[in-house]
Amino acid sequence: MNKPFVWLTRQIFEPAIQKISEVAEVEIWPGENPPPSDVILEKVQQAEGLLTMLTDPITASVIENAPRLKVISQMAVGFDNIDVDAATRRGIPVGHTPGVLTETTADFAWALLMAAARRVVEANREVHQGIWRAWGPNVLTGVDVHGATLGIIGFGRIGQAVARRARGFSMKVLYNDPQRDEQAEKTLNVEYKDLDTLLQESDFISLHTYYTPQLHHLINRQRFEQMKEGAIFINTARGGLVDHQALQWALESKKLAAAALDVFDPEPIPAGHPLLQLPNLIITPHIASASTFTRQKMAFIAAENLIAGLGGEKLTFCANPQVYQAG
Ligand code: DGY
Repeated sequence: MNKPFVWLTRQIFEPAIQKISEVAEVEIWPGENPPPSDVILEKVQQAEGLLTMLTDPITASVIENAPRLKVISQMAVGFDNIDVDAATRRGIPVGHTPGVLTETTADFAWALLMAAARRVVEANREVHQGIWRAWGPNVLTGVDVHGATLGIIGFGRIGQAVARRARGFSMKVLYNDPQRDEQAEKTLNVEYKDLDTLLQESDFISLHTYYTPQLHHLINRQRFEQMKEGAIFINTARGGLVDHQALQWALESKKLAAAALDVFDPEPIPAGHPLLQLPNLIITPHIASASTFTRQKMAFIAAENLIAGLGGEKLTFCANPQVYQAG
């Protein structure tokens, strides 16, 4: 019997590919950059399974032009690049990889928070540029992290992992989420606040929510205006959650002391973007989950979801479990 054809939009951890190859005929987009949309459209004509990255637009028209498609398996926890409703309409499960990247992503949110607070990137740049002259009482002074108030927007796995780390810095932690979690409030010693209060009271604000069109530009000019003078803003979630023009205003006006972004909208940030001129902004290229081990685990989970979907079994991590209720 012929093996089903699956298409991987990027080269992933080799042992995960081998696992898929045991049950499927595998073709892999050879580029390091995402495949163009017309290639995706062409490949889905034949594919029974797709293994995708967050950079691949899996639109309704891709899904509707995929007559044989049984499963989409995304190697990421977020799946806002996929029209999940279109997949659900066709009964196609969409897999994703929650859980395995939680701690690694929280580590990185902290790396950004610390770097922004203590101006690590600016300081490193100055030393490389030969600007280091001598110790000085006013040289590169930053903001204390210990004892400060951290506001976490989105209190899922990653938000909670970020909160756990804050204990070591004796921080007060506030959170906002559509769902209040009284159990976590006790175990993590965090306080629930409405968004307005959280923004007004936090010294550091870190975003950890999924992106949905309803949350587009959740953090806009008005939200930045509500923040404390000299606050520090961190985004490791999705770029679309933030109005970057408003962020520019907040940084230029010194409303914020600094910001650190691992995500942008669009990605990559266009060359010459005015934000790139600002010394109080750190930007990294969407690497919060990028430890080798975590990327390997993500690849395995994506492979397992893909294989389950090909075999008509329930995906362990499914973004649209409604597909199983229908039939
Ligand atoms: C995700 O998984 O959604 C992250 O943004 C990248 O790992």
